[in-house]
Amino acid sequence: MAGSCKASFTSLCVVSVSFFLKYQFSTDVVMRCLAKDLQTKLHGQHLVQSVVLKAIQGFVNHPESNKPLTLSFHGWSGTGKNFVARIIAENLYRDGVKSECVRLFIAPFHFPHARLVDTYKGQLREAIRDMVLRCPQTLFIFDEAEKLHPGFIDAIKPYMDHYDNVDGVTYRRAIFLFLSNIGGAAINDVALDFWHSGQNREDIGMEDLEHRLRAETMDSQGGFAQSELMSGHLIDFFVPFLPLEYRHVKLCARDAYAARGIDADETTLDEVAKAMLYVPKEERLFSAQGCKSIPQRINFFLP
Ligand SMILES: Nc1ncnc2c1ncn2[C@@H]1O[C@H](COP(=O)(O)OP(=O)(O)OP(=O)(O)O)[C@@H](O)[C@H]1O
Ligand SMILES: [Mg+2]
Repeated sequence: MAGSCKASFTSLCVVSVSFFLKYQFSTDVVMRCLAKDLQTKLHGQHLVQSVVLKAIQGFVNHPESNKPLTLSFHGWSGTGKNFVARIIAENLYRDGVKSECVRLFIAPFHFPHARLVDTYKGQLREAIRDMVLRCPQTLFIFDEAEKLHPGFIDAIKPYMDHYDNVDGVTYRRAIFLFLSNIGGAAINDVALDFWHSGQNREDIGMEDLEHRLRAETMDSQGGFAQSELMSGHLIDFFVPFLPLEYRHVKLCARDAYAARGIDADETTLDEVAKAMLYVPKEERLFSAQGCKSIPQRINFFLP
């Protein structure tokens, strides 16, 4: 994914003095590629495009920053949370999510049992510490964060705080992403209100959502919402993923066909998009599963 973008900048390649040394690409090229990927591959998420880019760009360009970057992605299923995490990884690391400096934790998979929380805490601290010692720049992704056990994530709160180092190890060059569906309904309500009042979806601003999202999260139950990361204001940005509409589903279908070398026509794209379920019942505006399973669904429509 990122390879093709960076390849087009080969002539601009310089040996970077930053942590991008291993890619031989300057941070400027990396950021331009990240911006391009967010613009062209991600559909219907104008807030995500601008917030994620600004947050990562600011962080990367200010290596003296006194805390790690912590972003919390919120939204309904299939709206692109994991997709964006992957785009970030693929742009920051040559091997993308497979890089030894990127780690994905899936809450119910890696930390399933409440009774083992204390053991998991030690394991998580150690895993993060080891990676930070090995890599100049790390990316940690916590998927399904709403399912983290109470108290668990507090184990790494000191790593995310404003400390120069913890026990001699500095965590300031880490990026933490938390992915959850917390506040998804509130995001959808705002998008629906805009639609009802005849306003453009693209006019929804962070000011319409961020405070509400923060409040919704604080009011939610669960180990992430009730963690010290929240009460200690250690989340730098709450990133809202809007529910996807029919036209976005069509774009996802177009991409899925293109990935198989097929230039699908409008009729075919309409067929795929029409086969999805749209909610709420009256407006039938938002795809209930976003763009999830579109690559699988197009099999059904292939000749
Ligand atoms: N906004 C989007 N633009 C383009 N493609 C998208 C978008 N949202 C989802 N997709 C496509 O759908 C797939 C599934 O989306 P993704 O896994 O990112 O959803 P999610 O938000 O993490 O959902 P969940 O909460 O169910 O985990 C992606 O791999 C991508 O192909
Ligand atoms: Mg996901």
